Amino acid sequence: MKTPKELKVKPIKNGTVIDHITANKALNVLKILGLPSKDASVTIAMNVKSSLMGAKDIVKIEGRELQSREVDKIALIAPNATINIVREYEIVGKGKVKLSDKVKGILICPNPNCITNTPEPVKTKFQVIEKNPIVLRCYFCERNMNNRDIETQFNE
Ligand code: CTP
Ligand code: ZN
Repeated sequence: MKTPKELKVKPIKNGTVIDHITANKALNVLKILGLPSKDASVTIAMNVKSSLMGAKDIVKIEGRELQSREVDKIALIAPNATINIVREYEIVGKGKVKLSDKVKGILICPNPNCITNTPEPVKTKFQVIEKNPIVLRCYFCERNMNNRDIETQFNE
């Protein structure tokens, strides 16, 4: 019987590779980044084997170099993700996502009575009080959010 060779996702020419994404979270990552968009084509690999993590997801974005600032948001759901910037097939930059101390705007507070959930024009803001496992606290109502809450509370 033939043993098939490991099938790898094609390398990209110019753009960004987000590697070591927590398994099965690639679609959440794309949502946070507002992808796919007009100017970028996206390749996704989900639940692939990783010696480091057991299983992982990979997202390849051809045609767009993401800024580390915009990518840091994904640390909320993929804390081990690495960002590779690719030019002419070569990796010219490599970094890890970094969770900042505050999370502004991208999450909805789970407390229905929070001022951020009323018609008042108040943008959400959370303080990161624990990093591993992650715990966030709303600045306005002091409600805490854990890992599982975070996944369901992303803004559209
Ligand atoms: N990659 C790509 N296109 C390129 C170059 C690299 O899609 N032109 C991808 C690779 O497939 C890999 C990621 O970018 O998923 C990182 O590449 P590389 O640094 O070569 O791999 P590793 O050494 O395994 O990365 P790390 O050290 O971050 O684990
Ligand atoms: Zn709140």
